[in-house]
Amino acid sequence: MTTEPASAAPPPARRVDPLRERFDGRTAIVTGGGSGIGRALGAELAARGATVVLADVDLAAAAAAAAEIGPRSPGSVTAAELDVRDADAVADLVERVASDHVRLDYLFNNAGVAVGGDTAQLSVAHWDRVIDVNLRGVVHGVAAAYPRMVRQGSGHIVNTASLAGLFPSPTLVPYAATKHAVVGLSISLRAEAACNGVRVTALCPGFVDTPLLDHVNEGLPGPRPGRELLRRVPGGLYTPDALARDALDGVARNRALVVAPSVARNAWRGYRLAPTVVLAAATRTARRLLGDLHAG
Ligand SMILES: NC(=O)c1ccc[n+]([C@@H]2O[C@H](COP(=O)([O-])OP(=O)(O)OC[C@H]3O[C@@H](n4cnc5c(N)ncnc54)[C@H](O)[C@@H]3O)[C@@H](O)[C@H]2O)c1
Repeated sequence: MTTEPASAAPPPARRVDPLRERFDGRTAIVTGGGSGIGRALGAELAARGATVVLADVDLAAAAAAAAEIGPRSPGSVTAAELDVRDADAVADLVERVASDHVRLDYLFNNAGVAVGGDTAQLSVAHWDRVIDVNLRGVVHGVAAAYPRMVRQGSGHIVNTASLAGLFPSPTLVPYAATKHAVVGLSISLRAEAACNGVRVTALCPGFVDTPLLDHVNEGLPGPRPGRELLRRVPGGLYTPDALARDALDGVARNRALVVAPSVARNAWRGYRLAPTVVLAAATRTARRLLGDLHAG
């Protein structure tokens, strides 16, 4: 009697998670990648298999992040020095990364600074600082990466805006102005970019526990408000890691806006449903925050 050789059992089907798969083997640049949300985005991208360049004006911070994240991730992580206020430097980095890796799949325009306080005490220098980094920095990223992505016929630009780009934000007026501009840039470019196979998303976090909250008006003359600028946040501050997971899930789903956490989504929804009520509440918040600022 002959026996059939036992056929090898088929390997277990690999479970494909589309929210992770979208980043596997892809190339991404994250500006402001040395700290906070950018660092967490870099770690989550690398955990999902991407090749990541953490670009930051603080090269030591970006290098330390890359050294920590890289060895524990399937993707690779490197650091680059970049000041997003320098359009030529942004263009050079995009060109170098895209040539080294044949293509650039993701650009996260995330670098940002916080400028705020009592607007009556702020000078043009305050406005210039936040416009240069938060708005021009994003513009430089788009100007560098979008034409290349159009030529590729693919790519995804993710701009970190803020809930302050969707919602009245007294005592963060210059910051909110730049973030509203980033939302406007993103949703407008998104419609145009779709014609070219390119995606655009604006990330709109509520308050996230990062060093940004302790560096308001850093390097500028006048008052340096601290965390007294924060509204009372039900449920406390969100973590950068949780935000990065929400962000990449939203990017994988090609959302126009990723608003997180849920408390931020609820605030945004409330403003769209009842703007007059929310604006009146914002005035009460402003009175309290200005009182705290002048008391402190
Ligand atoms: N933390 C929050 O509550 C919060 C909420 C909403 C949106 N955001 C936005 O998230 C983004 C990241 O902020 P974060 O909270 O992680 O702050 P963070 O201070 O922890 O990190 C910002 C990083 O950007 C870098 N950076 C600053 N200026 C730069 C420049 N000119 N060129 C290149 N890099 C520069 C800094 O060195 C730092 O590493 C910002 O755009 C911020 O406005 C933050």
